[in-house]
Amino acid sequence: MNRKYRKTVIAANWKMNKDADETKACAEEIKSLVGRVRWCDIVVCVPSVDIAAAVKAFRDCRISVGAQNVFYEPSGAYTGEVSVPMLKSLGVKYVIVGHSERRKYFGETDEDVSKKVRAVLEGGMSPIVCVGEELAQRQAGVEQEIVAAQVKLALQGVEPANLRRVIIAYEPIWAIGTGLTATPEEANRMGEHIRTVIRKMYGARVARSVTIQYGGSMNENNAAELLAQPDVDGGLIGGASLDAKKFAAIVEAANQ
Ligand code: PGA
Repeated sequence: MNRKYRKTVIAANWKMNKDADETKACAEEIKSLVGRVRWCDIVVCVPSVDIAAAVKAFRDCRISVGAQNVFYEPSGAYTGEVSVPMLKSLGVKYVIVGHSERRKYFGETDEDVSKKVRAVLEGGMSPIVCVGEELAQRQAGVEQEIVAAQVKLALQGVEPANLRRVIIAYEPIWAIGTGLTATPEEANRMGEHIRTVIRKMYGARVARSVTIQYGGSMNENNAAELLAQPDVDGGLIGGASLDAKKFAAIVEAANQ
C-alpha cells in the first residue's frame, strides 16, 4: 500500500453465493464489524439479484456495494443481461469487469472487457478490472507479457481523467480458489509491472494514483503480509469474504 498516492480498497467477491436472506445477514454482520473503518474503502460485490438487499443492509455506513458483471449496452434486446444505468439506479458504486471465471466460462474477450470498462466509467462508477496469467503461462515465464497485454486492451480508449476511478485486480488464475497464493514479492512485482504499463500509457502522475489489488486465496492469515507491499493496494477476496469475521480480519489487516 502507499496511502500517500492512492486509495486502499478491500473488496469482497461473493461470486454465485448467498440468497437475499443470507446477503442481509452477512452484510449486517460485516457492517457491525467494520462499517465505520476509515483506513480503507470497503466494497462487497454481490450477485445482481442481491444488490437491493445489500444496498439496504449497508445504508448509513462506509461500505459500498459492487456488482460482479455488467453488459456494455445501456438497454435493448439482450435477454438476461443487466446494464450500467440499472446498476447505478440501485446504488451500485463498483463493478468487477473481466473476472477470469467470466473469461473462462462465459467467453468474455479482452474486447468485451474494454467496452465494459468504458461503459462503467461513463456511468460514473468504478470498474475493478481483473487481469492475470494461467499457471502454464507463469511456468513459461510469459506472465508479464500476458498481463501487460490484458491491461493495455482493457484501458483502450479510457480518458486519463477517468483513470483515478479504475481499480486493477491482479489475480493469477492458478491462485484463485486453490489455496495457492502468490508470494508477497510475486504480487508486488506484478503490481509494479502493471504500474509501469500504466505509466507508459498515461504518465507517472496518473500511474501513481491507480489502486492495484491482489486477488487469489487472500485470507485472514496472509493479508497483512501481502498488503504491506508498496504495490499491493488492496485485495479482491472470494472464498474468505463469505465469512463476515474472516473478511473483517482482512480489513483490519489493511490498518498498517
Ligand atoms: P479466492 O477468489 O479468494 O476464492 O481465491 C478471488 C477471486 O476470484 O476474486
